[in-house]
Amino acid sequence: MGGRPGLPSPPEAPQRRSTTLGERMTTTTTGQLQADADAALFGNRFAIQEVPTRTFPATGMPALDAFRLVSEEMALEGDPVRNLATFVTTWMEPEAQRLIAANLHRNFIDHAEYPRTAEIEQRCIRMIADLFHAPGETTGARTQGSSEAIMLAGLSLKWNWRKRRAGSSNASPNLVFGGDVHVVWEKFCRYFDVEPRIVPLQPGKYTIGPEDVALHVDENTIGVAAVLGTTFTGHKDDIVGINDVLLQIKNDRGLDVPLHVDGASGGFVWPFLYPDSPWDFRLEQVRSNNVSGHKFGLVYPGIGWLIFREKADLAKELVFEENYLGKTDSTFTLNFSTGSAMVRAQYYNLVRYGHAGYRYILRNMQTNARVLGEKLAAMGHFELIGLDQEQLPLVAFRLAADNGYDEFDLAWQLSAERGWMLPAYTLPPDAQHVTIMRALVKETLSREQVDLLAQDIDDACATLAKKGGAHESERRTIIVGPGH
Ligand SMILES: Cc1ncc(COP(=O)(O)O)c(C=O)c1O
Repeated sequence: MGGRPGLPSPPEAPQRRSTTLGERMTTTTTGQLQADADAALFGNRFAIQEVPTRTFPATGMPALDAFRLVSEEMALEGDPVRNLATFVTTWMEPEAQRLIAANLHRNFIDHAEYPRTAEIEQRCIRMIADLFHAPGETTGARTQGSSEAIMLAGLSLKWNWRKRRAGSSNASPNLVFGGDVHVVWEKFCRYFDVEPRIVPLQPGKYTIGPEDVALHVDENTIGVAAVLGTTFTGHKDDIVGINDVLLQIKNDRGLDVPLHVDGASGGFVWPFLYPDSPWDFRLEQVRSNNVSGHKFGLVYPGIGWLIFREKADLAKELVFEENYLGKTDSTFTLNFSTGSAMVRAQYYNLVRYGHAGYRYILRNMQTNARVLGEKLAAMGHFELIGLDQEQLPLVAFRLAADNGYDEFDLAWQLSAERGWMLPAYTLPPDAQHVTIMRALVKETLSREQVDLLAQDIDDACATLAKKGGAHESERRTIIVGPGH
């Protein structure tokens, strides 16, 4: 057997008789059939076998085995109802769940094949734009969550800035926001080559206002991003003040800098809890907003919304036309194929609850958050953070004094004693020495659960006061991020 001309011949393979693939498969299949027969009669063959984890499995397994294998993994997971770290929905009504299950096979992007799903998306966009006081006809997009919405909003800001700066070929764009934003804003800047101008926080000041922003805005600022309901403490930036300063900059310096409001959590909270507090298109410089349907829109994960004030705020260069799917369609997304179930689930919630329903549910959450806050305050160990201000339905708090243990110890103790997932985390610079704990109070945290949680926190403090802080190895198992 010769090699390729000019290359040395490969060494001869050793002459050893090995089993053929056919023989190996027959042996495997015979053994497996027996195992499957036993499993079908007596249980699950993964009771005694290692599960596939690395190599692509040579053969499959019965559906029941696969189901049990995957389901059993859940046993060691946290219980979503006890997850007080996440803003994301952990419960929906059975009717909504039926709707979701019935639509899992429908690709959202197939607009030609599923025109009613496309219409439902447009209805949601119009309804949310109305909730956010859009002055007239508008446009927007269904996204995977606020992160995708923010990437698209940022891209539109960048393209519109380019048009404003036509002729200044070596100008480089910047975006102004506070240290209180979610990490997605820094991601946007890095992924799409925009200079982040981040206003640092300070101990005791965890949101930003007009005086912070004005210093950083110049002719290359593509926009300012303000947060409605921060990930860290649930408060809002001074959006009215920022809007006013941008109007002043427009009048004095002729710079028309758009304001984007990141309402990932707050977009479905403020309209119901603080309807008279403007943050949306009632403010002139607010040109776009995002909101996560899967947070206080009360839908399971996988849905977000980007809403523009007017059609002209969406840079039209970002909208692509395609006709692969049977009719010419416009696409303005970072991904293409995706599920349609959550769009339908969002529409279900909008029509099922309306203003009255969302207000009722949000007020219940707020009432329970206040009860929890009062109980924590009464214990005497904690300082509450801004419970008297407009805030998401949550309680942000920290230990008032050094008792020989810290917030990370308490997070560990609570999870060890009762399985509560209540995160402890440090704030962004320049408040990085401040540690906070935060409990989201969602629809499923009833008054009874609030009372139990408060008691458990008190008990955990008592345990820690006796035994001291958690061991390093214990601490490694706790949530040390703000959740999302
Ligand atoms: C203020 C804020 N913006 C953006 C995001 C990202 O949202 P999503 O998880 O929907 O992508 C979050 C998530 O918690 C957030 O709190």
